[in-house]
Amino acid sequence: MALPSSEPERVPPIRAEDLRIEPFRETADVREFDCDCKELKDFLTTAEVADYEKKNLGKTYLVYWQPEGALVAYFTISSDSLRFDYFKSVKSFSIPGEIRTNTIPGILIGRLAVDNRFKRRDVGTHLLRYIAGLALSAPAAARILFLEAYPSALDFYQRRGFITIEHQKLKKRRNRLIYFDLTTHPDWDGNR
Ligand SMILES: CC(C)(COP(=O)(O)OP(=O)(O)OC[C@H]1O[C@@H](n2cnc3c(N)ncnc32)[C@H](O)[C@@H]1OP(=O)(O)O)[C@@H](O)C(=O)NCCC(=O)NCCS
Repeated sequence: MALPSSEPERVPPIRAEDLRIEPFRETADVREFDCDCKELKDFLTTAEVADYEKKNLGKTYLVYWQPEGALVAYFTISSDSLRFDYFKSVKSFSIPGEIRTNTIPGILIGRLAVDNRFKRRDVGTHLLRYIAGLALSAPAAARILFLEAYPSALDFYQRRGFITIEHQKLKKRRNRLIYFDLTTHPDWDGNR
């Protein structure tokens, strides 16, 4: 007989191929979505998400787990850039003198949230891979993925290769500005 364990029971991971990712549309299931973060829940369940869509400030995608048809996550992305001086001391971002740029282009992950019932089942990890794939195949150049991470989610991102930007101007912020350098991604084609 198995001894009782203090470890929480492991729920089977969700496979990437069982996720269906759809552009946002207003459906009843968004009202049920809960991720223990009021700001992220409110964004999806109030008019805010539709306003972003209408003004093309951020595109939101709903993520369904096909076997149950359940809404498991959502994310919002947009093309954006970060000032080059944030990267001045990062060797891999050093650029030849003849190139003049003030910014590093990328994809901003404005929001990413997994419903409480589906957390810790690899959904967040699959979605970061998916967003990196979008960035790498986008017609417009994207060198980084970036976001402002809540302190509670920082470890999650750091373990997936995101790096915190240390800059005097960012010191007082509660959330941390972090980025993933897409040239470190296995699918990056350095010869393009
Ligand atoms: C942060 C967040 C997006 C992560 O999503 P997620 O789907 O839970 O992430 P994953 O399952 O891919 O990975 C989470 C952890 O669970 C672990 N895990 C994955 N499958 C597991 C399993 N079957 N059993 C136990 N643990 C598991 C992973 O190893 C990972 O741990 P690590 O970060 O210590 O390496 C999600 O928790 C969330 O929505 N949080 C609230 C909102 C938020 O903070 N969003 C980020 C805004 S900055």
